[in-house]
Amino acid sequence: MRVDVLTIFPDYLAPLRLSLVGKAREAGILDLRVHDLRDWTTDRHRTVDDTPFGGGAGMVMRPDVWGAALDDVLTPGAHLLLPTPSGEVLTQRTAHAVAQDAHLVVACGRYEGIDARVAEHYRAAGVRVTEYSIGDYVLNGGEVAALVLVEAVARLLPGVVGNPHSLVEESHGEAGLLEYPVYTKPPSWRGLDVPDVLLSGHHARIARWRRDEALHRTAQRRPDMLAALDEGALDRHDREV
Ligand code: ADE
Repeated sequence: MRVDVLTIFPDYLAPLRLSLVGKAREAGILDLRVHDLRDWTTDRHRTVDDTPFGGGAGMVMRPDVWGAALDDVLTPGAHLLLPTPSGEVLTQRTAHAVAQDAHLVVACGRYEGIDARVAEHYRAAGVRVTEYSIGDYVLNGGEVAALVLVEAVARLLPGVVGNPHSLVEESHGEAGLLEYPVYTKPPSWRGLDVPDVLLSGHHARIARWRRDEALHRTAQRRPDMLAALDEGALDRHDREV
């Protein structure tokens, strides 16, 4: 997969050299390129923003600069992603869908955002454009949201996570539940014991216990997820939990 990130702060994306994403790049699974938007400015001050029409606080990013950059970076069939607090919320489902794309272009806005004509223009030109938010809070710009997207997507690419099974059981996975609590050695720590069932070696009982814990957690912390569960996804035991 190729990913181009456009930003006025390329250094913000430095963590993408580390850990699994860094390894995916070294392995050639992920071709990640970070660009400085100011390389597409034409004035002496390398200006990327201006005051908003209609008045109000803050500055808006200019469509001409973004247009020049995106015209250069977009390829036929590329998916343009625009992080913004007013976008649709990024979910594991979105991450799986985006992981199927061959080329992503992430355009990080700053200040009050990017002139709305940029999204409008590329949509009209037939480019797939997704405005996404990583949650109901406001960041200073799209860079952290780009980091989140790239990490969430990169770990779904074949060959990035060593054991593909670990992608199945985790929170927001196929079961639609949060993940059960996990434990390792020592079996007793500061007076707290690992639940006996996990030491029992009884695989069916362990699976049932984990499922019950996942259901309890989800009910407590994310009742919205529990409510969204398909009736068919619950077995007879689940209903008793
Ligand atoms: N830019 C600023 N806040 C954001 C958010 N919550 N999600 C995505 N991009 C953003």
